[in-house]
Amino acid sequence: MSISDTAEVLVLDSKKMPRHVAIIMDGNGRWAKLRGWHRTMGHAYGTQRVKEIIREADRIGIKVLTLYAFSTENWSRPSGEIEALMQLLRDYLLKERQELLDNNIRLQALGQIERIPTEVRAILEDTIEVTSPNTGMLLNFCLSYGGRADIIQATQRLAREVASGQLEISQIDEARFSDYLYTSGMPDPDLVIRTSGEFRISNFLLWQMAYSEIFVTDTSWPDFEPSHLRAACEAFSQRKRRFGQTDEAQRKPL
Ligand code: IPE
Ligand code: IPE
Ligand code: MG
Repeated sequence: MSISDTAEVLVLDSKKMPRHVAIIMDGNGRWAKLRGWHRTMGHAYGTQRVKEIIREADRIGIKVLTLYAFSTENWSRPSGEIEALMQLLRDYLLKERQELLDNNIRLQALGQIERIPTEVRAILEDTIEVTSPNTGMLLNFCLSYGGRADIIQATQRLAREVASGQLEISQIDEARFSDYLYTSGMPDPDLVIRTSGEFRISNFLLWQMAYSEIFVTDTSWPDFEPSHLRAACEAFSQRKRRFGQTDEAQRKPL
């Protein structure tokens, strides 16, 4: 039985659903190469999946969906591939903005957004602005995102506040540090999914992932369907999370 067959018969238990799901959408290039196509075709097909997965995540009651779309390291790819990815982002935002509004979804971008080309950035900022009053699912696009860069920017802001006397060193604790990250105010991801089979984090949500459950699937991102998302959530619901405690005395970390 394939993963999608299993997923079709699943009935998800809303009490055991992850609140925050984060996805490393990997494998577009290899998927295209297998078909003898250019890598950018993989990105184009992958963008179709983005739409479907957002819709499904919302439908099954996920509160926060974080999609790793472009890393700080991805800037070192060939310029043609970067341009194609930025174009796809632009087209996605223009086409899907209304769908986000219709579904009460709020978009946020996490990462060094200032590095995104001006025209695309303007459309991105506009979409963030128009969806900001929405109260439904929070959708994070990690764009020009690096977990290390996130920790550095938080540290710099904290250091600046200490230097200017606004903050005492003793006031820096885990909760405050979390507040200075791009994910400020959000719960940490309960479930991190990586498509395309690699067992690595690739600089994603390094701080926030401390106690996330990890689900790796061999399925490439352009083949990742709503049923695969449901299967990942079902697998999550079977996990026993301990947060460093014993089975008997479990509580969430602060
Ligand atoms: C993920 O697919 C999309 C981005 C990182 C932008 P890749 O482009 O990394 O595809 P593979 O991993 O090379 O197959
Ligand atoms: C991670 O994929 C980044 C995104 C999915 C945006 P990569 O393809 O960049 O990661 P590596 O190079 O395999 O570690
Ligand atoms: Mg990759």
